[in-house]
Amino acid sequence: MKATFVTLFFAAGAFAQTIPTLPVPKTQSTAFDSSFKFSPEQIELGQIWPELAGSLETILNFDRSQLAHGGPSQDSFYKLNNQPNSSQPRSPGQVLKVEHVTDPASWNIPAKTALSRFIYTTTNANGTLIPASAYILWPWTAKEINGTTEGKAPALLWSHGTSGFFADGSPSAHRSLFYGNIMPFTRSGWLRGVNTSWDGSYVPHQYQNRLANAFDSLFALRAARSIFPDLITDEYVNVGHSQGGSTAWGVSELLAENSLNMFQDLENGYLGSVIFAPGINTLYSAPEVIGAWVAKDLALMYLDFKLSDWLSPLGIDRTELLTQVQGGQFVNEVLFLANITEVLNPAWNDSWYAAAYTEYTNPGNRPYKAPMILFQGDEDQGTGPHMLALSTFESTCEKHYSGSFEFVTLAGVAHFPSMDSSRRLWLQWIEDRFNAKPVSSDQCTNTTLNSFLPTSSYQKYSTSFS
Ligand SMILES: *[C@@H]1O[C@H](CO)[C@@H](O)[C@H](O)[C@H]1NC(C)=O
Ligand SMILES: *[C@@H]1O[C@H](CO)[C@@H](O)[C@H](O)[C@H]1NC(C)=O
Ligand SMILES: *[C@@H]1O[C@H](CO)[C@@H](O)[C@H](O)[C@H]1NC(C)=O
Ligand SMILES: *[C@@H]1O[C@H](CO)[C@@H](O)[C@H](O)[C@H]1NC(C)=O
Ligand SMILES: *[C@@H]1O[C@H](CO)[C@@H](O)[C@H](O)[C@H]1NC(C)=O
Ligand SMILES: *[C@@H]1O[C@H](CO)[C@@H](O)[C@H](O)[C@H]1NC(C)=O
Ligand SMILES: *[C@@H]1O[C@H](CO)[C@@H](O)[C@H](O)[C@H]1NC(C)=O
Repeated sequence: MKATFVTLFFAAGAFAQTIPTLPVPKTQSTAFDSSFKFSPEQIELGQIWPELAGSLETILNFDRSQLAHGGPSQDSFYKLNNQPNSSQPRSPGQVLKVEHVTDPASWNIPAKTALSRFIYTTTNANGTLIPASAYILWPWTAKEINGTTEGKAPALLWSHGTSGFFADGSPSAHRSLFYGNIMPFTRSGWLRGVNTSWDGSYVPHQYQNRLANAFDSLFALRAARSIFPDLITDEYVNVGHSQGGSTAWGVSELLAENSLNMFQDLENGYLGSVIFAPGINTLYSAPEVIGAWVAKDLALMYLDFKLSDWLSPLGIDRTELLTQVQGGQFVNEVLFLANITEVLNPAWNDSWYAAAYTEYTNPGNRPYKAPMILFQGDEDQGTGPHMLALSTFESTCEKHYSGSFEFVTLAGVAHFPSMDSSRRLWLQWIEDRFNAKPVSSDQCTNTTLNSFLPTSSYQKYSTSFS
């Protein structure tokens, strides 16, 4: 390899240097590195027309270009061989596979961060043992706690928002870990990156299920601690956004309740929760889109549930198509909204399943493990999510007050920017918890954070691909 750097001296008196020959610049791809096209059978199955097929292919090819090593369906890291019964895992939080240091060449993680990935055991909402994948993102230096690092990095337990519903939606396989620079810290995140369990059975993702997702998060922490006991602190702050916001809220509820005594090890070190824009009542807010995500695995919870209880024949066929192509959130939206009035069974809300599911999976209105802080923009897909989060906060505090809970309204802020806009506050909040500073109030408080310049002066969303 020739040296690829050039040092130029402009200062007077500098010696002329021999400038190394530069290599010819490499041609970089300006097209997405995927060439998926629907088969005629898939076009017929989904009853999609040429323009719609073209739009879906554009999204699918972009999404696939974001997967390191082709994602879980191609990356052998996510494959568990069928194991004899004798060596099958027996408890949640067991480590099944570890990549201590992931070669970051295929990822677009922030410079001077390092990555580890692992596969571990967790349970679905009903307690069945299943595998999931998670990652750890390491910082270049560890932040000091109480004036010392003691060789350990302070841990954030991170629950991500909706990135998909199939194994290929797993953030650990996404080049930017799905959140890029929004959340660039030591963190441990999870999602079912594993499609097929150790016994050969299919592993579905129980969408937006507060309990199933909170199990995943807590058991990922147990597994991470057992892999790196000397590198991450036992103390941790629990953080999540959107679907992961309700997961993080669910984590604090599970720790508060712990009726099954399943989490004694994980209560140790809990310092508090930071919740961003949690998903609440999402099924009711957009049943045409979200109905399929929930319905495809609801029979795991309610044995007598059938897809046709919620979806029309077209909706069922499109769910099958979505499964075949492992489509993510935006494929799903375009596919289902293209026939918004035709994908649902008109009687979908007559049966008890929707109300039962919502009641069962919504966070809030239960005791929680304090302290908690919740950031919610008031321009998050309209004003609905803000009003819902505020009323859930209010009724939780009224009926189940369990200690310090701060609700912060972010004026003029949308869904993802809830994290960027409030960064200064939550970084400080997290640091204060590690340094054992008392919270500012033991009560439930409700404040508004306004921008420095008028709201209209600001970039609304980041625009870069990553
Ligand atoms: C596998 O092992 C479990 C626990 O020992 C036992 O209950 C089960 O019957 C075994 N299954 C098979 C297929 O041998
Ligand atoms: C996922 O697992 C199911 C059941 O084992 C299988 O039919 C399907 O092809 C798998 N999908 C992928 C993308 O590997
Ligand atoms: C569905 O039915 C419930 C009552 O069971 C009602 O509260 C809710 O608003 C309905 N949602 C939609 C979108 O129809
Ligand atoms: C799963 O758990 C739910 C809620 O506790 C319960 O209603 C349901 O019957 C369970 N389903 C199965 C398949 O065990
Ligand atoms: C879906 O929507 C398109 C465009 O409006 C329409 O032409 C088509 O008939 C619809 N498909 C079904 C099965 O209703
Ligand atoms: C920091 O110091 C305080 C006061 O001595 C102590 O209570 C707390 O546990 C320490 N925090 C950590 C993370 O070690
Ligand atoms: C929270 O603040 C909003 C806006 O100031 C106000 O309308 C609401 O009543 C407050 N709620 C509580 C519980 O203090």
